[in-house]
Amino acid sequence: MSNTASGNTSPNLENRLQIEQLLNAATLSASALTEKSDVISGLTQKPKSVQARYFYDDDGSQLFEQICDLPEYYLTRTETAILQECVKSIAQITGACELVELGSGSSTKTRILLDAYNQLNLPLHYVSIDVSAGILESSAKALLANYPSLQVHALVSTYELALKQLKPASLPNRLICFIGSSLGNLNPQECQVFFSQITKALQRGEYFLLGIDLHKSKNILEPAYNDSQGVTAAFNLNMLNHLNQRFDGNFDLTQFEHLAFYNETQRQIEMYLRSLRAQTVTLNALDLTIEIASDETILTEISRKFDLNSIQQELRSHGLKPMQVWTDANQHFGVLLCRLLN
Ligand code: AVI
Repeated sequence: MSNTASGNTSPNLENRLQIEQLLNAATLSASALTEKSDVISGLTQKPKSVQARYFYDDDGSQLFEQICDLPEYYLTRTETAILQECVKSIAQITGACELVELGSGSSTKTRILLDAYNQLNLPLHYVSIDVSAGILESSAKALLANYPSLQVHALVSTYELALKQLKPASLPNRLICFIGSSLGNLNPQECQVFFSQITKALQRGEYFLLGIDLHKSKNILEPAYNDSQGVTAAFNLNMLNHLNQRFDGNFDLTQFEHLAFYNETQRQIEMYLRSLRAQTVTLNALDLTIEIASDETILTEISRKFDLNSIQQELRSHGLKPMQVWTDANQHFGVLLCRLLN
């Protein structure tokens, strides 16, 4: 199904915005079933876990935006500064381009990219992908109002489905962007699958832009996930609210605490919710009652920290040749532009 937007903010907006719904009734009900069984298996296995995607209801997305502005959370501002330095080179290398962004959020970083193509007078189509139609439409309209020659194709979809269904690029090149170090939230196996999906969505010679957080001292890493204002703790605990609402549950948020530390061996931040007492929790919509012991933890997120050599090797093994790598002076964060070889 496909439609064009109404409620114009610019005279020719309807010609420049296409919103396409890829999540039909069948895919939605199949994914609802998988979601339910994922939550049940995560909460009944030992150690307990819940998938990180349950952070992101409306409150969780807002809390994440606040995290990005925290003094301790160096990731967003460091990546933004690197992008400001390297976008001109990226635009020069790729030329006229269809920019496919996986998870644009507030699209602050998208604008940095769009500005660079604009300044070089390179035609640009922007394909945004998100499961929330509301977020897609509002951010697309805001972009169209500022970029009068931009074409936006918004796909209401999971990344997986959208990457599978992308038609060949409408301009000479495609650049798929996955910035913000979201790759770190995938485990190594999920990462492999993700890279294969990327390579299938590109033609030979097309581009992949990746932003990743790098391994560093735990004195810098741990405060980024244990901020002094307690925003990350609120973000972590909000997952229980989301589960309560989604599955008619009775998690008591006052009976859990936020726990985050750097696992040096695995090179990943691990984020947990620790139970402050022995408790029983029921999620009616899942027909599920679980016992949680005092001090028992629920894993809510991993955030892997990469090594530039190993990630480049891994990208190469998928046929994605790193062409340029940019970092900040402290080597805290890396941005890699890769090209599909075969
Ligand atoms: C979305 N992702 C890259 C964030 C991260 O740093 O792994 C999520 C996050 N979790 C706690 N703070 C931020």
